[in-house]
Amino acid sequence: MRRTEALRSFVRETRLTPTGFVYPLFICPGEGVRKPVGSMPGVFNLSVDEAVKECREVYALGIPAVILFGLPEHKDEQASGAWADDGIVQRAARAIKKEVPNLLLMGDVCLCEYMSHGHCGIVKKVNGATPETEYEILNDPTLDLLAKTAVAQAKAGMDIIAPSDMMDGRIDALRASLDAHGFENTPIMSYAAKFASGFYGPFREAADSAPSFGDRRSYQMDPANAREAMREIELDLEEGADMIMVKPAIAYLDIIAEARARFDVPLGAYQVSGEYAMIKAAAQNGWIDHDRVMLESLLSIQRAGASIILTYFAKEAAKLL
Ligand code: PBG
Repeated sequence: MRRTEALRSFVRETRLTPTGFVYPLFICPGEGVRKPVGSMPGVFNLSVDEAVKECREVYALGIPAVILFGLPEHKDEQASGAWADDGIVQRAARAIKKEVPNLLLMGDVCLCEYMSHGHCGIVKKVNGATPETEYEILNDPTLDLLAKTAVAQAKAGMDIIAPSDMMDGRIDALRASLDAHGFENTPIMSYAAKFASGFYGPFREAADSAPSFGDRRSYQMDPANAREAMREIELDLEEGADMIMVKPAIAYLDIIAEARARFDVPLGAYQVSGEYAMIKAAAQNGWIDHDRVMLESLLSIQRAGASIILTYFAKEAAKLL
C-alpha cells in the first residue's frame, strides 16, 4: 500500500489542511513598520496598517484565524496597555475587522507584554530567603486586570478570547465579566495546559516580554506533569472554557493525545516560537529539508489530535497544501 503516491494518498489517515490554522501577529506602534524578529526568520513586528495588509494575505491563503499580541507604547505595573480601550491590540482588532471582516480574531489575554517587569500577573515584593521567594504573583488581583483585558478585546471585535496567563480561576473570572458586559456569545479558548517551557525564548524577543527577574515556573506548568495537565484542562472546562489548548506542541504530543481522548471539546495546540526557530535554523544550515520538516511537524500535531494549530508556519504551509 506504500508503493505509489496514489496508493499512499488513498490510505492516508490524517489530511493536513489550513482550515484549523491560526497565524500569530505581533502588533507594534507606528505606521508602515515591518520590523524583522531576529530569532524568528519570516516573522515581523507589524504596525496596525501593516497588520491589516498581512491579514488580507492570510485570509486569501485560506487561513481562518489570527491571534494578536501587542507591543505597547509604554509598560507599567498595572499592564494598562492591555486593557485600555485604545490599547495597541484593540486598535489593531478594530482596523482588521473593518477590512477583513470574515477573518476570525483571537485575542491573547495576558499581561506580560504590558507589565514593566514582564510577569503575567501583578507582582508583590516580599522578604524571602532565596531569590525565588523574594516576590509573589498576586493571583486574585490579577484576575480583575485579565477580565478587563478580555472585555476591552471583545469590545474591539475579537471573536475568541484566549487567556494565556495561567492564573487560577481566570476562566471563571473572564466568563463572568464577558457575560456581564453583553459578550455572552464570545467563546473562550483557554491555554489550559501551558507549560513553563524553554521553547518560548524567541517569542519573548518578538513580544519584548521576558521577565526582568525570576521566571514563570510559579504559574506555568512543570514540564514533567501529565496528570496535572488533565486536571488543569478539567478545571478550565468546569469554569466555562469552550475550547482548550496545549502548549508547546511537539514536545507535548502525549498531552495532546490524552486531552483528545478525554475531552470532547475543540482542541488546539500552539507550535511555539522555539519550535519554529529550531526548524528555521536547521534548514538555513542545510541540515534538514525545510518544507518537509515543517509539514511533518504540523502533521504530527494534527495526528496527535489537535484540530486547531497556532503556528508561525501558517502562511508557508498553507501555500503548499
Ligand atoms: C504570554 C504568551 C507567551 C507565549 C504565548 N503567550 C510567552 C510566555 O508565556 O512566556 C509564547 C508563544 C511562543 O513562544 O510562540 N504569556
